[in-house]
Amino acid sequence: MIHAFIFDLDGVLTDTAEYHFLAWQQLATQLGINFSREDNELLKGVDRMGSLELILQLGKVQLSQDEKLKLAAQKNTQYLKLVESMSSADLFPGVLPLFSSLKAAGIKTALASASKNAALVLQKLGIPDLFDYVADSNFIQNGKPDPEIFLTCAQALGVAPERCIGVEDAPAGVTAIKAAGMYALGIGEEQALTQADLVIPAVSAIDQRLLTRLLTM
Ligand code: BG6
Ligand code: MG
Repeated sequence: MIHAFIFDLDGVLTDTAEYHFLAWQQLATQLGINFSREDNELLKGVDRMGSLELILQLGKVQLSQDEKLKLAAQKNTQYLKLVESMSSADLFPGVLPLFSSLKAAGIKTALASASKNAALVLQKLGIPDLFDYVADSNFIQNGKPDPEIFLTCAQALGVAPERCIGVEDAPAGVTAIKAAGMYALGIGEEQALTQADLVIPAVSAIDQRLLTRLLTM
């Protein structure tokens, strides 16, 4: 039996995965690095500095730590400009009904986001208090694909990992969920999320029938 759902934020509950991509792409162009949507798949779920390192590797560009910190800050400023205009209308369809169903079934929920902007995005979406627990990425030592953030959520909820479902749109996130010993529900395309136990196109695909199936596994 499943007792908890642990959600990623960017790309699962709202379209901020696209904002991260646009902000990184702008930075890559400035550095003269070709950065495609396909390249971006590897960055999904990866923290800010880790993502920058991957882009620099792609362009075989070497920079000092100071320059890297400046570029990461610049990307974040650009990302925040995009987040600024967000509202509750940007919550993906089906999210609120799903949470109502989970609450009614006594299922606990947590947020496992690698983003240092997660609290702001939750506020913009009008859901600052939707979760039983929100992991603080500032206190996570090892980012996804390490399982730490998912295990931290399970522990805070008081639920054994094997009784948790992790919901992720990123390959690194799905790897983290599996490494935590949880059921991985992938959001997106099957070819990109090969390690997931089940892949669905969007949260809105979790209807009552699928939810019952997932909860009684
Ligand atoms: C993850 C995103 O949720 O957060 C990544 O999938 C992003 O693309 C990471 O790099 C860190 O986000 P932030 O907001 O702290 O730069
Ligand atoms: Mg994501």
